[in-house]
Amino acid sequence: MTPTNLEMLYTTQQIEQRVMELGKQIEADYKDQPLVVVGVLKGSFLFMADLVRAIKHPLRCDFLRVSSYDHDVSTGVVRMDFDLTQSIENDNVLLIEDIVDTGKTLGFLKEHLHGKKPKSLKVCSMLYKDIGVDNRHLVDYVGFEIPNHYVVGYGLDSEGLYRSLPYIGYFPK
Ligand code: IMP
Ligand code: MG
Repeated sequence: MTPTNLEMLYTTQQIEQRVMELGKQIEADYKDQPLVVVGVLKGSFLFMADLVRAIKHPLRCDFLRVSSYDHDVSTGVVRMDFDLTQSIENDNVLLIEDIVDTGKTLGFLKEHLHGKKPKSLKVCSMLYKDIGVDNRHLVDYVGFEIPNHYVVGYGLDSEGLYRSLPYIGYFPK
């Protein structure tokens, strides 16, 4: 059920179509090279589940978890809650994020993963939020570029809620 006062940003159908396009693009870019897809929990879990099924390609999946938000406000300090379970040394790694906002989480994660000596490291984020800071170079694949709204749904939460919505929306200020 759609919560009252939630404005639709991307419908289930728009998301499905964009995820298929991203999958095709990633497949073409990596040819048949094996890939390790690393999801950042919790926000990327639905996006990653759909994206890996759109990449017809041998791949492994792993996850890590970081947190930096407190009551929907970024604390600016990124904490590693848990790390990968397998080595990624000499692997082609594709990091999957839900959203890039200030870019602090992604900056932290890229440095952290580079330390594990992958063969290559690319980033795919479902959303890129335009907050007037140019962080676009941090991301190789972006699902949608969005204005500066706090968004929920399709994995994204507000104080733990709304992750299971099959679309992306925002609460107007
Ligand atoms: P950053 O470090 O400011 O780029 O924030 C990245 C993380 O904050 C994302 O991975 C999300 O988990 C969370 N986040 C940022 N903006 C939003 C939003 O609009 N809705 C839900 N979560 C968000
Ligand atoms: Mg996140």
